[in-house]
Amino acid sequence: MTVNELIKKSEDYLKESNIINYLADVKILIAFFMKISLAKLYAVQNERIKFNLDEYWQKLTEYQNGKPIQHITNRQSFYGYDFYVDNNVLIPRYETEELVDNIIFLIDNILTAENKPLTLIDVGTGSGAIAISLGLENPQLKIYASDISQLALNVAKRNIKQLKCRNVQLLKGDMLEPFIKNKIKTDFLVCNPPYIPKNQEISYRVKNYEPHVALFGDDDGLYFYRQIFKNWHKVVNKNGFLCFEHGYDQKKALEKLVKEYFPDQKYFFRKDINKKWRMLFVNIL
Ligand SMILES: C[S@@+](CC[C@H](N)C(=O)[O-])C[C@H]1O[C@@H](n2cnc3c(N)ncnc32)[C@H](O)[C@@H]1O
Repeated sequence: MTVNELIKKSEDYLKESNIINYLADVKILIAFFMKISLAKLYAVQNERIKFNLDEYWQKLTEYQNGKPIQHITNRQSFYGYDFYVDNNVLIPRYETEELVDNIIFLIDNILTAENKPLTLIDVGTGSGAIAISLGLENPQLKIYASDISQLALNVAKRNIKQLKCRNVQLLKGDMLEPFIKNKIKTDFLVCNPPYIPKNQEISYRVKNYEPHVALFGDDDGLYFYRQIFKNWHKVVNKNGFLCFEHGYDQKKALEKLVKEYFPDQKYFFRKDINKKWRMLFVNIL
């Protein structure tokens, strides 16, 4: 059987399932089995399959039953870098790449104008996707990344090593507590917290395979924002920024909180590429 024939056969196998991305994921899985990049798969379409097909169909069935493709390949691309992922961390999302992009814009255009070395903290780092991408893009930044989950920190540590990132230091603890305890002051506080309301229906794939500690933010999903809004002044420098990702329907509720907790600061929200409000930035004056 050729690569092309296997793609077609796999697509037919998954056609009836309700999986949105299956066309792309089939190719990711075949490239994974062939130990080549997805881009290279197109060049070998007519080659014969040499890997064990029984194993392949077993993995495809696991995928059909709900396992995310990233948990089968233990890989997710984020901001152009290949991250190791498993079921101890949130699979980094494309929306979050936009948060990273906006932070790079702020670093390049606003704070570096002052020409001083900058510090950034990433609260709830998970796989380390945000902290490590920013660290690799800005080697001059001093970055601290925290998580309450030791299992998540183990994954972040593995990614720091795998991606040869030299400017991210990991800390374990609850929200801002490790930074306060270590008297760390920062120019950027970045956080993509768990923000799904406790009782919200979510897809089977997410609910059963991604860690709940990375997903839920209490009744209204805003618990972790409140925690940071109450304590930011203990860690963020003057002229610094707080940068958050949030749920596509949380802007209104968050704006109410921002007005309450930051009456004297400048803030703005940004949409993602799908035109959904997704990011909040607060500038400490
Ligand atoms: C939505 S995930 C984001 C992961 C990663 N930053 C990303 O964007 O892909 C939230 C992360 O916050 C961590 N977390 C949950 N509760 C926490 C707490 N109280 N203190 C610190 N981190 C926490 C979770 O373990 C998880 O890794």
